[in-house]
Amino acid sequence: MNLPPFKTKMVEPVTLLSRGERTKRIKKARYNLFFLNSPDVAIDFLTDSGTGAMSENQWSVLMQGDESYAGSTSFARLKGSIKKILGFPFVIPVHQGRGAEAVFNKVMLQNGNIVVGNSPFDTTRAHIETRGATITDVTCGEAFSAKSAFGFKGNLDIKKLERALSANKGRVGYVLVTITCNSVGGQPVSLENIKAAARTAKKYKVPLFYDIARFAENSYFIKEREKRYHNTSIQNIVLETMKYADGVLMSAKKDAIVNMGGFIALRSAELYRSLSPQAILYEGFLNYGGMSGRDMEALAEGLREGTEEAYLKHRIGQTRYLGETLRKLGVPVIFPIGGHAVYIDAAKFLPHIPWNQFPAQALAIALYIEGGIRSVEIGSIMEGRDPKTGENRRARHELLRLAIPRRVYSREHFDYAVEVFKKLIKAKKQIHGVKFAYEAPVLRHFSSTFKLLE
Ligand code: F0G
Repeated sequence: MNLPPFKTKMVEPVTLLSRGERTKRIKKARYNLFFLNSPDVAIDFLTDSGTGAMSENQWSVLMQGDESYAGSTSFARLKGSIKKILGFPFVIPVHQGRGAEAVFNKVMLQNGNIVVGNSPFDTTRAHIETRGATITDVTCGEAFSAKSAFGFKGNLDIKKLERALSANKGRVGYVLVTITCNSVGGQPVSLENIKAAARTAKKYKVPLFYDIARFAENSYFIKEREKRYHNTSIQNIVLETMKYADGVLMSAKKDAIVNMGGFIALRSAELYRSLSPQAILYEGFLNYGGMSGRDMEALAEGLREGTEEAYLKHRIGQTRYLGETLRKLGVPVIFPIGGHAVYIDAAKFLPHIPWNQFPAQALAIALYIEGGIRSVEIGSIMEGRDPKTGENRRARHELLRLAIPRRVYSREHFDYAVEVFKKLIKAKKQIHGVKFAYEAPVLRHFSSTFKLLE
């Protein structure tokens, strides 16, 4: 058992509404869990993004926020922290990850370009496709095999990467490695794989970037699973990982344990100069980019805390505890358990619901009604339609994600969730599929509404 490396100083009340009330609230939310109000929810596993608990150090440095428009000392501290922890000298602050994606892709991509990588997150995909570019997904085959217990299911298939680069010379904007890979279950990428991807990208003279929303968790898995790095500190694994990239995009709402914020960090002054005008246009001046000075202070501190080994051991341990307990009950979870979330194969859990009746959404609704737990569909609803053909894209997996906020829940919360699943296992047959009542044109999982199919 892991001793939590923190204790509680401030609490936020949680109430559990009656089942009847929950049934009413989800109906009022038109069966989209993004439309529930947070007091409707007893345990919020919707996302690990921006939902972490800040430390006493983070709260105290907020007071030192320098809110000057230009030349803010808080930005200087953030830049120093990024240089020290990640090794990049040039930093463009942004309001959150997708702000980074918007600025970056405006400069890096043109119509007809290709981005090659391991299953980019949905906002990343949307920003790439908005530029008229396409994604060639070269995630390794193990990621999609329920039987495989491979420890690095976020890896790129290097042969596929090489094929994509050699077949599309002159068209590939960049290679993007997402660490950990959210879209395939919060699965890590090994350092060996990163190095091989870097060698391949270099051979074809294509720049390499990472999406580092969960880089610290990725580093923990490298330390745990890659023999060469068992005795290397997390800080050194982080630096070694970053060494191979031309730059990174970060949603700081994840591994930097802040409620809002992000940045682009780069190695080259030239690229910094070419991204800067877009950043000023969309995010704000280069010393704040959509963040307050105090936010940048908390982010600088959060980056450090997020890479502490004791914290990561406890965090990854919590996710693993929930995932492995559910697995023992026979719930089909993606295995090995990823870093920030437990992913349930809803198509397997509810085999009577076909993919185009969205089994993961049906399960999310049932989980809320049964226990007041909010989760999110990562399946064919999120996958959206093909921008060229307009057809529904069938996701490779119909997943339900239980994302674990950082430093927020205790073992009792997880045990409660397990009890709710025990009830759902018995009541499976009563869970029915859903259809769209309103289908939003982009990123449709956020704002579409649904009807229950009885
Ligand atoms: N990249 C990854 C890997 C992400 O998981 C996310 C967000 C983003 C980029 C975009 O960052 O939200 O700050 O604009 N993921 C959240 C989630 C929303 O719930 O997984 P953002």
